[in-house]
Amino acid sequence: MKNYTIALIPGDGIGPEVVAEGVKVLQAIEKADDAISFSFTRYPWGCEYYLENGKMMDADGMEKLKSADAIYLGAVGYPGVPDHISLRDLLLRIRKEFDQYVNLRPVTLLHPTLTPLKSKTERDIDFLVIRENSEGEYAGVGDWLYRGKPEEVVLQTGVFSRKGTERIIRYAYEEARKANKTLTSVSKGNALNYSMVFWDEVFEEVGKEYPDVKTYSYLVDAASLYFVSNPERFGVVVTSNLFGDILTDIGAAITGGMGLATGANVNPEKNYPSMFEPVHGSAPDIAGKGLANPLAAIWSVSQMMDFFGEKQWGSTILKTIKKILNEPEQLTPDLGGKRSTSEVGDRFVELLLERN
Ligand code: NAD
Ligand code: IPM
Ligand code: MN
Repeated sequence: MKNYTIALIPGDGIGPEVVAEGVKVLQAIEKADDAISFSFTRYPWGCEYYLENGKMMDADGMEKLKSADAIYLGAVGYPGVPDHISLRDLLLRIRKEFDQYVNLRPVTLLHPTLTPLKSKTERDIDFLVIRENSEGEYAGVGDWLYRGKPEEVVLQTGVFSRKGTERIIRYAYEEARKANKTLTSVSKGNALNYSMVFWDEVFEEVGKEYPDVKTYSYLVDAASLYFVSNPERFGVVVTSNLFGDILTDIGAAITGGMGLATGANVNPEKNYPSMFEPVHGSAPDIAGKGLANPLAAIWSVSQMMDFFGEKQWGSTILKTIKKILNEPEQLTPDLGGKRSTSEVGDRFVELLLERN
């Protein structure tokens, strides 16, 4: 019997609504599989916690999370607390301090009706974006000088270390080799004459060790175009923190929207827990109404199972997402259905437990 400890951070807005459905799925797995059990610890951290306590997490919060096998997070951020405080002190802090430098965001069309792209099918839209997740444009380095004065100056410095750049690019080459897919690097060396020129050089340098991997290198503006016009060009994509953030929302747009996009924040060395979360935010516009699509958060559970080495469950969850997408009336309104968040979760569990 394998027991996995999971730290739950439901967070804000629709975060708790979708995490509840993911937990339903985990509990169904536990019931169905005698070899697996889960221990959950729930942390109430987020914007409400901040308004009560003046901080986004307990002072020893990182210490508390350290022993978990995985963190399962909903969403962070809500009107009333400045985003740069709520996100930097909770979500981004965990990604950085737990050295979750790999962000795995699949862009995979799971059902042909979900893409707004004319004449594109599941065969055309099936790639993996590997986003650098620990430094780059998100390093949090800068200054705000002469605040409020006419000579005011703001600096936000991108940080691209040799170690940080090499390890994410190497990870991507390994993934591309394993999957026998092409690898595309997305950068912007024509304008960002230090960071992105360096990125491109490292991409070429590391590539010498992977002569079997076919590579492409695109500027981020052109890559944005190709995400929409020619998604079939992509196999594995590696890019910087900010570019990866933006590109994966385009990825969501071509595969069914924010309700279906997932991301895993991985520390490959397993020195720290990895964190699984939907790509979407707290969606204040639909929070508390049962309108949130839980399938992104459920796909995160699939990524978590894969990470644990429970590949059978990882793929069963993904197959079940495809199954439920065949029942349009069983879906939430963002996908054209009439069901609530928890009704989708209930139906999902029924389908998950159906044999074949
Ligand atoms: P958002 O992802 O919360 O919402 C964007 C749009 O997608 C909205 O129209 C929303 O209704 C819709 N949407 C999102 N998730 C959905 C779901 N599961 N089902 C159906 N529709 C869904 O992005 P935003 O509005 O830019 O940000 C809101 C807040 O969330 C901000 O505070 C932002 O900083 C934060 N945020 C957090 C995360 C995170 O925790 N990982 C990610 C993105 C944004
Ligand atoms: C995401 C989010 C975060 C990011 C924000 C909330 C800081 O947009 O996970 O995509 O930019 O990484
Ligand atoms: Mn984002």
